[in-house]
Amino acid sequence: MQQQTLAIVKPDAFRKQSTGAILARYEKEGFKIKAARVRWLSVREAESFYAVHRERPFFSSLTAFMASGPVMTLVLEAENAVLRHRDLLGATDPAKAAPQTLRNLFGASIEENAVHGSDSEENARQEIAFFFSGAEIF
Ligand code: TYD
Repeated sequence: MQQQTLAIVKPDAFRKQSTGAILARYEKEGFKIKAARVRWLSVREAESFYAVHRERPFFSSLTAFMASGPVMTLVLEAENAVLRHRDLLGATDPAKAAPQTLRNLFGASIEENAVHGSDSEENARQEIAFFFSGAEIF
């Protein structure tokens, strides 16, 4: 069954001009790009997106980082997209991410880890709706 997930090329990867390589990898791995947009989040938007982490010690640093420059938000579609995308990302900490995963290839630190991916089908639905209206998704 086809499933959709939300990806964000984070400010570190966008700054390093890794966006094209990341998109190429998605296509190579069979993900269809259903929506894509470059945007620069405000701190408020980043706080709202990551609200589930508001009690965590890294929250203010994470949200400042996410608002530190442009990002690309994407809706990806594939069979079992949520889990397959999480596998393609690798572990949260790039130092622990398996070789050839996106965070291993493009991430610099646990905070600057290059790409976000929804971690469940329900969160994917919510995160897609946070950034995109139905008419913006192909
Ligand atoms: P989390 O949801 O635990 O990881 P993932 O992105 O793999 O689902 O954390 C969300 C983001 O918060 C993570 O991508 C990077 C940041 N973060 C830190 O900056 N420091 C930390 O110790 C952790 C756990 C996460």
